[in-house]
Formats: sequence, structure tokens, C-alpha cells
Amino acid sequence: MALDLTPEQKAAGKANFEQAAGDLARAGKMDSMVTGGTDPTKPDRRDFIKATVAAGAVVPVSAAVYFGYNSWKGNKAVRTALIGTGDEGGVLVGDHNPEYNEIVAVCDIRPTNLDRIFEGEKAPSPRKGLNGLYGKDSGKKIARYTTVESLLADAKKLGLEAVVIATPLHTHDTIAKLCMDAGLHVLCEKLMASSITKCKEMIRYAKDKGLLLSVGHQRHYSTLYAHAIEVLQNGILGDVKHIRAQWPRNNSWPFTATAADKEKFATGNDIDGKPFDLPYYRDGWCKPVLAADAEPFLKEPQKLRDLGYNSITELTRWRLYEKTGGGLMAELGSHQLDASSIILGHVHPLAVSGIGGKYFYGPGRNDRESLDGVFVTYEFPGPNHPKGAKHGKDESDIVIVTYSSFNSNSFEDYGECVMGSRGTMILSKEAEVYLYKEPEPGKGASGGRDTKVTVTGAGGGKAAMEATSTWGGGGGAAISKGAAVGWDSAVRGYRTEMEHFAYCVRMWQKRGGKVDYSKNEKGELVNKEIIPRCHGEVAMADAILALSANMVMHKDYKEKRLAYEDAWFDSTKDDVPETKHAPKKA
Ligand SMILES: NC(=O)c1ccc[n+]([C@@H]2O[C@H](COP(=O)([O-])OP(=O)(O)OC[C@H]3O[C@@H](n4cnc5c(N)ncnc54)[C@H](O)[C@@H]3O)[C@@H](O)[C@H]2O)c1
Repeated sequence: MALDLTPEQKAAGKANFEQAAGDLARAGKMDSMVTGGTDPTKPDRRDFIKATVAAGAVVPVSAAVYFGYNSWKGNKAVRTALIGTGDEGGVLVGDHNPEYNEIVAVCDIRPTNLDRIFEGEKAPSPRKGLNGLYGKDSGKKIARYTTVESLLADAKKLGLEAVVIATPLHTHDTIAKLCMDAGLHVLCEKLMASSITKCKEMIRYAKDKGLLLSVGHQRHYSTLYAHAIEVLQNGILGDVKHIRAQWPRNNSWPFTATAADKEKFATGNDIDGKPFDLPYYRDGWCKPVLAADAEPFLKEPQKLRDLGYNSITELTRWRLYEKTGGGLMAELGSHQLDASSIILGHVHPLAVSGIGGKYFYGPGRNDRESLDGVFVTYEFPGPNHPKGAKHGKDESDIVIVTYSSFNSNSFEDYGECVMGSRGTMILSKEAEVYLYKEPEPGKGASGGRDTKVTVTGAGGGKAAMEATSTWGGGGGAAISKGAAVGWDSAVRGYRTEMEHFAYCVRMWQKRGGKVDYSKNEKGELVNKEIIPRCHGEVAMADAILALSANMVMHKDYKEKRLAYEDAWFDSTKDDVPETKHAPKKA
């Protein structure tokens, strides 16, 4: 994220974050950590807050305890089907815990991906395959379907309770509603849907049927983000006025394939009459069409059209087209804007403006519609803004969140950089957090990239970072007594997201088989402990952020800035941005 941090400065920033989290935990200010060496797997989470000891071990609380599903023992795994066995379906299978979710059926319309979900891929790929998790004969136990309808027709026979949907964006709402019609709980991958109208329909469906609807923004289940957000909420960065988020990639290298690969590629004409082409660039969003995937649809093209695809190429490269995907904002930006709104206290933005285009691929050079470069600016309410976390009166308390993603350079890492008047926190690649103090004028080495920090005042007064000394050449080597160490930065949230979903399903059963989504007078869900953290309304807010940015960057959109309306975020109201702000030619 930060362009010029040396390895030593990164190590120092990491150690500073661990030190700060440890100091705050010892003052009883970190729900996600326990002090005094108590076994983190045993006590009730509320006890940790009380545990205040002067020094001693600080241990991260287990994810299950922190996310509120520590009491799984005695529950049977939820019988689950996976719909969409492509790249992300493979990641979810690789990371799921069969004690919580037993995959009993899979469904996909592409034969190659149906094979791949069983076979998996070689390490270090996270796609271990069903054979990797359930044994090499998993294909004999796990049923295989080529249409959602045929899967759902067998739902009772399979004893299905839930589905995980990992299909292209434009299919999410239709498939989720079909599954809910069949009485199944739904965990749907992000982005929730391709329009806010569709998001609202999905939420209403789940409410009417009393079923669970969870959406796969996995940062809601990342313990690393949980630690970082708790540290931030203690205010040690001072006044935060800017968050810089980005996800750079380089898809500009020419596509090459071995002769053996080429044999697998489709040849001749697609169902729209255009010849199958090979990608010009190496781009995960623009893969070659495989002959085995083309074969069934070349025989029955109408079947593919009925599923909402104009061609097999469109099915394979769905992210590139407006009808089937949502481009960089839906695929990448939505995750980081989700993180930014959590960091700012679960608030909604006030306005968005942005610029984006097909700057690299250019008109005529590539038939993609999705943009290859975006730079978007959101105005968020600061804590003291009337719409901010503290509901103050200061209309000028605004936080600017910028998001950029370009397809032609990968020098910097993806992540979010939170900049405050007293310090900076960098969340990098969902795997590391670095913390630095701002230097104080006239105080020598009192901050900056090489300075060690502790947190003072956490017990009583206002928590603040204090510089202790400078890190030597081997920054991060020695953390002071009692600091927090050892959280698992490999945990990106997929596993916990699926475990918690299963837990909610079992709690739903115990409470009479109907999810009650009612809210108290503060607007909070009454049953929030048994509703997934990224439930429909949370996910709809993320969809609004991503899709509104696409609207303002659209070549036919003439306004410069789009101001958000509260009713868009309210699923009980019909108002949506797309009807009022649809891009139109001048
Ligand atoms: N949470 C994350 O970090 C993350 C990361 C990557 C992708 N995703 C999301 O996961 C979803 C899938 O992405 P992907 O990368 O796996 O795409 P993919 O193209 O690799 O896989 C999608 C699969 O869905 C299948 N499919 C399409 N229409 C279908 C239908 N009507 N019925 C059944 N199967 C159908 C396709 O044949 C394909 O195998 C997207 O919503 C994407 O945004 C989330």
C-alpha cells in the first residue's frame, strides 16, 4: 500500500499494531482478545471485557468465540448444495469446514467446472476440491446437477437445508429466489445483485419466508479486520479525514498457451455466430472458451439463451459485460468500500463522484464493456456529522474515501490506508496490518515509520499512541512485555463466514424455524446474534456503493456527483438509485 516502506518499516508497523492491540486488550478495550492467559476457547465472550490485568499474555480470542458461534458441539452439519463450481466456488469448498457444512450436491452449467470442483487443484492453490476434503471417491457420495431446477426438484430427497451460490452477478437474485422458494437458506456470493431493486426483492423474499440470507463479503468474518477495527474504534489515529483504498492489477501481458492447452479450446463459431477467439492478454476475467463447455450449448443454444447468456464466450467472460457483470467496482471495489464503511462506524456515504474508462484496452482493441481503470471519490460522514457514528451536529465533518483500480500496473499491493491526525493504519492484502504514529513537532524521533509505539490512557482517559524509541535495523524484533502476538493472518474470513451461516441455520431451527428480522427503536436487529453479519441490508449498502460508482463513471452519465438518499438503503422503501440516476445520453 505505502509506496516506499522498507521491509524493516513494515515489520515495525506490524509490531506497533500488535503492541497497540495488546495495550488496549490489557485495558479491557478489545473484545477480540483476552488478557491474563485465560483459555480463549472456554469462557463466554463477555467475560473477556472484564479481564483487566496489568501485564501478562494477551491472546486473540478464537474466531468462533468472537463471531458468536462457540456452541456448535452436538449440532449436525448443515446439508448444503454449492451452485456455481467455478473459481470462487472452488475457494469456498477448499476453505469450508465439513463439521458445519456438509456439501451433499453441486450444480453448474459448465462441465469442466463440475469436474474441477471434485478434482481440485495442486497446492498452493486454495482449491483443494471435494476429493481433497471428502476423499477421492467423493463423486460417489456428492450428487451432481447441471441445472438449478433439477437440483431443487431433488431438494427433499437430498435433505437439503441450505445453498451456497457462487455464480455470475446477473444470476444471483433469480437463483437465490428459486432456492428460497424451495425453503432453503441462502449464502450468496457478492456483489449481492446487479441492481438495488433486485437486492430489495431478495431481502423481502428472505423476510417473508423467514429464511436466512447471507452475502459473501468475507471481511465481516476476518479476525484481522476485527482486531484492526477495534483498535481504530479506540480513536488512537485521532481525526481520520481520508481513507485511500486501491486494488491494482496488471493484465497487460500477452496471453500464451501450450499446444496441449490449445487442444482444449473451443474452435469454430459460438452460438451468436461469431468465431471463438483467444484472449489477447493474460487476464483472469478473459479466459479462453473450453471445447468441453461449448459442446452442450452448441447442440442446444436456446438453453444458454434461456439462462441469460448471448454466447458461451459471455458465460466464460461474464465479468467483462454490463449485462452479466459489474466490472472493477463490483468485483474488487465493493470489498474495500465495505471495509471503509465498517471502519467509519457502519455508516452510509453522502455522495460519490468518479472517473473511469477503457483506457488501456481502448475502443476497438477489445470487446469488453467493463472499465479497465477507475478512480472514485466518496464523501462519508465523519463521527460528528449528523449522519456519522456519533450523530453530532458538525456538517463539515466529512471523510474522503478514494478508491482506485487499474488493470495495467501491479506495483502496489491492494488494501486500505486509514489516515488520521495522530497516526496511520494500513490494512494490506487482507493479511497484514501496519500502524504508525504521526511525528510531534519539536519532539525529535516522536513518530514516523521507524518509531515504536505504546498506547497510553487506554485504562481511563483518552487512548493515544506514544512513541517509546526507534526501531533498530531489525525492526519488529522485540515486542515489549505482554504485547499481543500470533493471530492467524491467513484467515481471510471464508471459513468463519460459512461456519457462522451454519450456526445461524441451527439456531433458526431451535427458535421455531422462522427468522425474525424485526428491529428495536435504535434500528438494530433484535435477533442479530443469529443473523449473518453480512445480511441482506448490509450487503445491499455495499451494492449501492459499487453500482452507484458505475453509474457516475458511465460514458452516458452527465451529472458530476451523485448524492445518496436514505431511502435507497431501506429495504422497506421502493426508492432505488437506478431509476432516478440511470445514465442517459445528453
Ligand atoms: N468473496 C470473494 O472474495 C470473491 C472472489 C471471487 C469471486 N467472487 C464472486 O463469486 C461469484 C462467482 O465468481 P467466479 O470467479 O467463481 O466465476 P466463475 O466464472 O469462475 O464461476 C462461475 C460459475 O457459475 C456457473 N454458472 C453460471 N450461470 C449458472 C447458472 N445459471 N446455474 C448454475 N451455474 C451457473 C458457471 O458455469 C461457472 O462455472 C461472483 O459473484 C463473484 O463476484 C467472490
